[in-house]
Amino acid sequence: MTADIKVKVCMGPGGIAAGGTDVIEVFENELKVVDIKVNIEKHCSLHKVGCFGLCAKDVLVDVIIDSNKTTYQYVKPDMVSRIVRDHIIGGTPVKEWVVGDGYHNFYKKQIKVVLSDCGEIDPEDINAYISVGGYEATKKVFTSMTPEETIDIIKRSGLRGRGGAGFPTGNKWEICRKVQSDRKYMICNADEGDPGAFMDRAVLEGNPHAVIEGMIIGAYAIEANKGYVYIRAEYPLAVERLGKALDQAREKRLLGKNIFGTGFNFDIKIKLGAGAFVCGEETALIASIEGKRGMPTAKPPFPVYSGLWGKPTVINNVETLANVPFIIRNGAEWFASFGTEKSKGTKVFALTGKIKNTGLIEVPMGIPLREIIYDIGGGIEKGRAFKAVQTGGPSGGCIPAELLDIPVDYESLASAGSIIGSGGMVVLDEMDCMVEIARFFLQFTQNESCGKCIPCRVGTKRMLEILERVVAGNGKEGDIEILLELGNDIKVTSLCGLGQTAPNPVLTTIKYFRDEYESHIKEKWCKAGVCRDLITFYIDEVACKGCGLCLKECPPNAITGEKKQLHKINQDLCIKCRRCYEVCPTKFNAVKIGPADMLVENAKTGLFQD
Ligand SMILES: Cc1cc2nc3c(=O)[nH]c(=O)nc-3n(C[C@H](O)[C@H](O)[C@H](O)COP(=O)(O)O)c2cc1C
Ligand code: SF4
Ligand code: SF4
Repeated sequence: MTADIKVKVCMGPGGIAAGGTDVIEVFENELKVVDIKVNIEKHCSLHKVGCFGLCAKDVLVDVIIDSNKTTYQYVKPDMVSRIVRDHIIGGTPVKEWVVGDGYHNFYKKQIKVVLSDCGEIDPEDINAYISVGGYEATKKVFTSMTPEETIDIIKRSGLRGRGGAGFPTGNKWEICRKVQSDRKYMICNADEGDPGAFMDRAVLEGNPHAVIEGMIIGAYAIEANKGYVYIRAEYPLAVERLGKALDQAREKRLLGKNIFGTGFNFDIKIKLGAGAFVCGEETALIASIEGKRGMPTAKPPFPVYSGLWGKPTVINNVETLANVPFIIRNGAEWFASFGTEKSKGTKVFALTGKIKNTGLIEVPMGIPLREIIYDIGGGIEKGRAFKAVQTGGPSGGCIPAELLDIPVDYESLASAGSIIGSGGMVVLDEMDCMVEIARFFLQFTQNESCGKCIPCRVGTKRMLEILERVVAGNGKEGDIEILLELGNDIKVTSLCGLGQTAPNPVLTTIKYFRDEYESHIKEKWCKAGVCRDLITFYIDEVACKGCGLCLKECPPNAITGEKKQLHKINQDLCIKCRRCYEVCPTKFNAVKIGPADMLVENAKTGLFQD
């Protein structure tokens, strides 16, 4: 009997980072050997697929034998030969490497629409996409629907832009359709510059055809004959797969002239961006495609009226477009059945930071934040306390632990002072300093400000200077008030969304963690033990059992002490890397963090007793 065997290796961002390329290579070699030497009566095919989701357990590998799927986690090249021998040839899975309950729990509360085929199909094979219903929506639209009916279904679905602002997609298309012009453009915004975000990259690497299909349908609806995908050059794999997918779509005549015999022509070009955050802003993006410096211009006019080369242009985010084929195939009501009244459908988030299950998730809009953090994310690492989650990247804000039950949708996050944004979710625990987090994000936006308008260029610089002083222990009375005043002014006076949202991380951290700002300024003390100028590491003489772990791990050899004797830290050598604190066994908890101005010459002084 011939068995049909498929091996799928995660080659999403997490899979590649964990060594997926090497794992694939060993599989290729091993399977060749199997074919030649063992001559088993099995047909085994190897597939590079996009992100499985749970990047924390990469490299993830699926072995599917006659539709029985077994998933392996943390696969390294040297594990491959045993998987091939025991499982693929022998039919017995290698139990100790198979994923456990944690893996399955990660997916339980997720609903996959955009990600439904990611990790399942070969992103480099158009036939794999077609085999799961791909391009059916294009056919349906071109052969049985008018552009108006197409727009109507998207409007009724309630789909809102996933790039950050949440503008209703159907309405955007409708406005653009109604503008009279000899030429229109459809643009996919794949710039994705937010720190902590990799959703769009994963979608383009995992299922580029869904995005292309969304663009074709959008182009038909607004009557655009030319499209661009604006994508940063730092995403080479996404660019490569997108390029292949475009070629394959052209070969199948899904792009080009006379699509489905309707006389409609549409083709897509890739435009590489140089990796500037501001180029994700739509007017700056248009300028960049036109070959100008990527700087925003005032709106109105909005791109739907006057966009690329002055022509009506729809700009949509990758995830927005990837939703479109599923809505056309399954209906507006199906899509609208997920989510809340005003935020329909699902949302993809990149879940990172101090969470056990880092990865890519897709959840129904309105899911309580607690379920994302604990049920899907598995809670906080090392049993520490959840402190906050930064949503929306540098344009967003921090949601504190007391708002853990907030529903994750556009309106609720906005009411908490944050935004969904494009979907970055950075989880913070008790060991994160909120002033430093605010400084980090503001540093990012300050660096990325295009400099065109003064509130953003100079205002964020002044805010950053204050934050730098505060984390260095030189904060002054009144700094918090200046930050609030400046932040609110910058928000209302900046020209584009970058400046209009740049103060958000500072304003929300002051709103929810003002005490941390105050302790930095007044007591010169960073409670979280992060700001180096405000802390000292020391070893508690009672708790220390002289196990020597900290001594072994200390990079500058600042720790001394004999085995089973009290260890000590030489403050002159200590670089405050926190390694000793991390490695000291929890049962001893002997490494402590104290304020910097309490000089320790000898831990026995008792100065640092809690
Ligand atoms: C500074 C800045 C950066 C942005 N970066 C992106 C981005 O990387 N991707 C994206 O889709 N939208 C980004 N946006 C939002 C876009 O300007 C635009 O609203 C979006 O692409 C529209 O698509 P949507 O309606 O499908 O969300 C950014 C906006 C600003 C102000
Ligand atoms: S707000 Fe900032 S990024 Fe936007 S135009 Fe002004 S200076 Fe440039
Ligand atoms: S904080 Fe780092 S450098 Fe300082 S004693 Fe601990 S391990 Fe050594």
